Amino acid sequence: MNLPVVEKAPLASLSAAGLLSRYTVPNYGRLALVPERGQGTWLWDETGRQFLDFGGGVAVTSLGHCPPAITQALAEQGSKLIHCSNWYQIRGQGELGQFITETVMDHPGKSLFCNSGAEANEALIKLARKFGHATPLADGTPRTHILTFNNSFHGRTYAGISATGQEKVKIGFAPLLPGFTHLPYNDLDAVQAALTPETVAILLEAVQGEGGVNIATPEFLRGLSKICQDHNILLLMDEVQAGLGRCGHWCGWKPITPEITPDAVSWAKGIGGGFPIGAAWIKQRPITTTPGDPDLCDLLGPGTHGTTYGGSPLACAVALAVLKEIKASRLCEHSATTGQEIIATVSAWHHPLIRTIRGLGLLIGFELDPTVMARRTTWKEADGLASIHLVKALMAEGLLTVAAGPLVVRWLPPLNVTPEEVQTAMTIFQRVLNQQLNH
Ligand SMILES: Cc1ncc(COP(=O)(O)O)c(C=O)c1O
Repeated sequence: MNLPVVEKAPLASLSAAGLLSRYTVPNYGRLALVPERGQGTWLWDETGRQFLDFGGGVAVTSLGHCPPAITQALAEQGSKLIHCSNWYQIRGQGELGQFITETVMDHPGKSLFCNSGAEANEALIKLARKFGHATPLADGTPRTHILTFNNSFHGRTYAGISATGQEKVKIGFAPLLPGFTHLPYNDLDAVQAALTPETVAILLEAVQGEGGVNIATPEFLRGLSKICQDHNILLLMDEVQAGLGRCGHWCGWKPITPEITPDAVSWAKGIGGGFPIGAAWIKQRPITTTPGDPDLCDLLGPGTHGTTYGGSPLACAVALAVLKEIKASRLCEHSATTGQEIIATVSAWHHPLIRTIRGLGLLIGFELDPTVMARRTTWKEADGLASIHLVKALMAEGLLTVAAGPLVVRWLPPLNVTPEEVQTAMTIFQRVLNQQLNH
């Protein structure tokens, strides 16, 4: 039998792109930038070129690159204890859970830790299934149906892509996890019509990030909350992108409906500021009126769920440092006011290429007008997505942003972005938009 031959190339002879294409799976369409180091809102590439980073690793670097809060926590905890098993009493998990319950949620409940947003949503979905088994139909059939929404994004695991309301993430992966129905966002009538006795949970983002920065209306969120209460259905909030200050509040839904407390919430991205950690919080509330039944927050008992790396001493120390810094420097408030200023300034340009601007805090989407783009710029539909076209043009001028769907360019700067950095970003943005207008 002939064994395949691995051709060995000296490492230094290959560019980053060459190394990636030769040795890594091509599961990302990557831009031509090789990041080497970062500080605050700035990123430098291998050639020493400087970029203003308003993409933030897609809503991850909530305190900017390599902030002292994180590097200190990494150094201190990293020299004490990096990892130990969840068979032991990890104090940092308790402390992080306490911060989440008392400060972020301000409501009794308990947290569970994992490593990513998809995993945090897995926890919510498994919680919903467990709840549906604990509160079955009269004939004993468990309730298993979950309602989610078009244009949502909930991660790349099987439950994540099954829950996600975008066909493109599912192509070639059938059969998916059954039991999900996708409905139009902000359409309460559609939710009412889709309810069945088997409906056990509603999962949504208060602001859909990947789907184009779509914001839930107060009527929609209030209506969902009432439906959930009336039918003993869990309200599950995916805050992986929108949470922890990103939308100008600890909780992304609170600027819209401060009175709501979901039954469970998922986080990742900004909670670690770049260090991988995800979390799910579960409300303390009875699941039935039967005495002795566990509370919702105790339903995932020993042996039901977990992950080796979840909530390591190092991950918890970093996340706690990030959250404490957000609180101490009042970054939720800063995010709210800075976001409002950006939207007000860019709106006042009345730029012909921008159709609408949507945003809460520092999760801002600029929706391009494809008709004007096709008529007045070099972009043509056949060239690819209009959003990516502009993201590349902005990168060429030193501003990093992220596309959200075909038409939206997203800004996700760190929560501590300075007024000067915002001004620089707006100057580049306006210049690039004007450069595009060649007719
Ligand atoms: C709202 C939302 N949920 C879940 C995820 C998945 O998170 P992760 O990539 O950490 O698995 C994302 C990622 O973009 C997201 O935006």
